[in-house]
Amino acid sequence: MRIIVEDTEEQFHIASALEITKQVVAKPESVITFAGGETTVGVHRELSQLCRQWRIDFSKMKAFTLDEYVGLSPDDPRSVSYRIRHQVLNPIGLQSDHIYMPDGMDEDLQQACYTYDRLLDAYPVDLEILGIGSNGHIGFNEPGTPFHLDTHVINLASRTTQDKAGFFGTVGSVPEQGITVGIRRIMRSKQILLLAKGKGKSEIIRQALMGPITTDVPASVLQLHPSLTIIMDKAAAELL
Ligand code: GLP
Repeated sequence: MRIIVEDTEEQFHIASALEITKQVVAKPESVITFAGGETTVGVHRELSQLCRQWRIDFSKMKAFTLDEYVGLSPDDPRSVSYRIRHQVLNPIGLQSDHIYMPDGMDEDLQQACYTYDRLLDAYPVDLEILGIGSNGHIGFNEPGTPFHLDTHVINLASRTTQDKAGFFGTVGSVPEQGITVGIRRIMRSKQILLLAKGKGKSEIIRQALMGPITTDVPASVLQLHPSLTIIMDKAAAELL
């Protein structure tokens, strides 16, 4: 595992955006999975700026998203799909036929998971970008989720619901379920980029990277990945 610790939040955003850019420059037709959440907002902003300033051609890449809230439409500004499109995929000029997102509104969610897995079969992921929940989740793979699952629907942990209450306004407004790429599929990506910032992530980062590999801390499985890069700010890395 390669660990990069940046002094400031700003440097964290830049280093993370550069890491993603490096992948696209080396392989313009890369398949990349993007993650939502607050951690990646500044990273997406930097990536959009790099694209503009350096005129990097992102148009050949294919973008997937890692997860979605069940019941939110892609037109809902709170959905992962909407945020990732507007934060990064539109600014870098990626066309819709290069963008794949799980459908949290599908009446048949099992079918939606199946469809998404077939797309992921067709386009093996070169770079999987991940954040980490304060309970160790990656995507919406909450503590206790078996490591062998592909895309699936999951009940959000109460810790996740609490963490997301600020964003949704109240705990009651947070959707109860998510649709997420599973851990088996995450582990199949050629490279993984785990991003964490802020003191609030320091304890779970310590457990994920230095503790036992256990489904209680889903991100701990990443210790087994042969090509894992972790970029953090100093605050997130302070317990390592
Ligand atoms: C979210 C998403 C994850 C994200 C994580 C961390 O709910 N399911 O993909 O990485 O939780 O979120 P944040 O960056 O807001 O702390």
